[in-house]
Amino acid sequence: MSTRPSNSKLIEMIVIAQSKAHLFEKENQMALLKASVNLLSTIDSSLKTMFTSHQPIRLEALRAQYAGCTQCPLGTQGRTQVVFGTGPENASIMLVGEAPGHDEDLKGIPFIGRSGKLLRQILSECRLSPEEIYITNSAKCRPPENRTPTPYERTTCSHLILLKEIHCIRPQVICTIGATATATFLDATLPFSSLRGKIIQTEYFAIMPTYHPAYLLRNRSAVEIVKNDFLALKAFLMRKL
Ligand code: URA
Repeated sequence: MSTRPSNSKLIEMIVIAQSKAHLFEKENQMALLKASVNLLSTIDSSLKTMFTSHQPIRLEALRAQYAGCTQCPLGTQGRTQVVFGTGPENASIMLVGEAPGHDEDLKGIPFIGRSGKLLRQILSECRLSPEEIYITNSAKCRPPENRTPTPYERTTCSHLILLKEIHCIRPQVICTIGATATATFLDATLPFSSLRGKIIQTEYFAIMPTYHPAYLLRNRSAVEIVKNDFLALKAFLMRKL
């Protein structure tokens, strides 16, 4: 399945992106407008259809529908189960990670292994209760040997499941955890460092990329950066109230 739109479609999408994206840091305007192209070109039309549809999607029905999914290679490469998102259906924040690891694959819950524990600890130190947050992944099945899911795998999965989760939850902010999850939404050719911590407003929700906790386990000094990202995200939500 091709994930790239044609050039003419892309140009059209760039124009749409430029008219839609509202950026919070003026100096990064051009980079972030470019960043929003991937999101808007690959998922915008699907989201628009869903957001304007009156047919409600229920998470339970979604889980039942895709519990045995084999639509991408990860479905037949040794996963124990499809790991769906967890959290309240009315969450204002949605965290999107890369893919389940060993512990998540066994228990069927995202971010409960070593890096997940660090993520949950940071959230709680920022007074963000995991009970108020919907936590999910861009690919719902564990890749063999914990390799990075391919663009094909995460795009297939995002179109089948993630987009529908977004439609159900309708979060105000989607926080993408790490470069792979960020590339599901934003232009993968932009350096992750130029996107991290930026809050990019789209027509449907804002997106804020931050570091993956697996990176933080190797670079403890970046924990404070992620805390500041989450505090900025909280402040952003407060301003919206
Ligand atoms: N890493 C992720 O990206 N997601 C998980 O659920 C666990 C680890």
